[in-house]
Amino acid sequence: MTIEESTFGHTKENKEVSLFKLSNGFEMKVEILNYGGIIKNIFVPDRYGKVEDVVLGHDDILGYEEKSDYFGCIAGRFANRINQGRFYINGTQFQLPQNSNGNSLHGGVKGFDKQVWEAQVFNRGKEVGVSLFYLSKDGEEDYPGNMKCWVTYTLDNSNQLRIEYRAETDKTTIVNLTNHTYFNLKDGGETNILDHNLRIYASHYTPVDSNLIPFGTLDSVEDTPFDFREFAPIGDKIDQEHTQLVNGGGYDHNFVLDKNNGECNLIASVYEPISGRMLEVLTTEPGIQFYSGNFLKGDIVGKNNVPYEYRSGLCLETQHFPDSPNHKQFPSTILNPGEQFESTTIYKFGVEP
Ligand code: GLA
Repeated sequence: MTIEESTFGHTKENKEVSLFKLSNGFEMKVEILNYGGIIKNIFVPDRYGKVEDVVLGHDDILGYEEKSDYFGCIAGRFANRINQGRFYINGTQFQLPQNSNGNSLHGGVKGFDKQVWEAQVFNRGKEVGVSLFYLSKDGEEDYPGNMKCWVTYTLDNSNQLRIEYRAETDKTTIVNLTNHTYFNLKDGGETNILDHNLRIYASHYTPVDSNLIPFGTLDSVEDTPFDFREFAPIGDKIDQEHTQLVNGGGYDHNFVLDKNNGECNLIASVYEPISGRMLEVLTTEPGIQFYSGNFLKGDIVGKNNVPYEYRSGLCLETQHFPDSPNHKQFPSTILNPGEQFESTTIYKFGVEP
């Protein structure tokens, strides 16, 4: 178990960004930046032992600042969309910046993904990691309350990367935190992810309008292209004429997890048949946004000069449901002073024969 720290570069505002290399001695290595809490690389073996990077990203900080589609980052203070950026707390209206088609997306113009976090490393022998801290000030991106946020990445000796989130506020606010890593278990983004097999333990999902805002209903996945309760190749039904696939431009939907008891449950798996790599996702969160990389179009050139083409990466964003502040029936995203927001997600890697 080792952890190394080095300077990755400087932001355009001349803030120093550090790179943390976590290694577990079992051929898994994870590289993390304190800019945006970004997971820059995840190196894992395939079934023949070949170790390769399986996430999309950039080789330099400028790439992340200028040409990133939330690669690897922590999205916050409120991940995903809020309808017209508007919500109410105890009758008071709040208006957030409308940074995506009239809606608020992933925390606004300068969300948690674009901040430089304080970082502290640790090595406990059986696991290593880095704890990140960011203070989101009262009024930043028009959210109420000073919100302190801690995100800890831990790599252990069973090829698990654990992400623990914690937040506190001094005024009632809203919070929804996720990690926005794009995975491509075959080649890190050189080809598309349509042959990846996906399983999500969800009998329902939250259908959306053409702006990707949920209607507030929970629809059954039964007999729809959204039924991933058994492994299915992502590409099988993605281009069906289903209204929801049309609205999403593919998969870009929140799945309502069947197991939601506060424990860190196994809720999704991805298996890539050529490499044999398997990714299991465990979380305490009630939902997961499955995004099939529909907005990628080859104009972002990432690590090793690879252009990230349409659907070359997939995201499995564990979170509360999109636009929750405007849907009382969804699990609450309100955080009050004196309360702790806590959430854990694990990405566990392995291979299948
Ligand atoms: C999330 C959203 C997508 C898209 C990406 C970033 O996954 O659900 O609609 O905005 O982030 O491009």
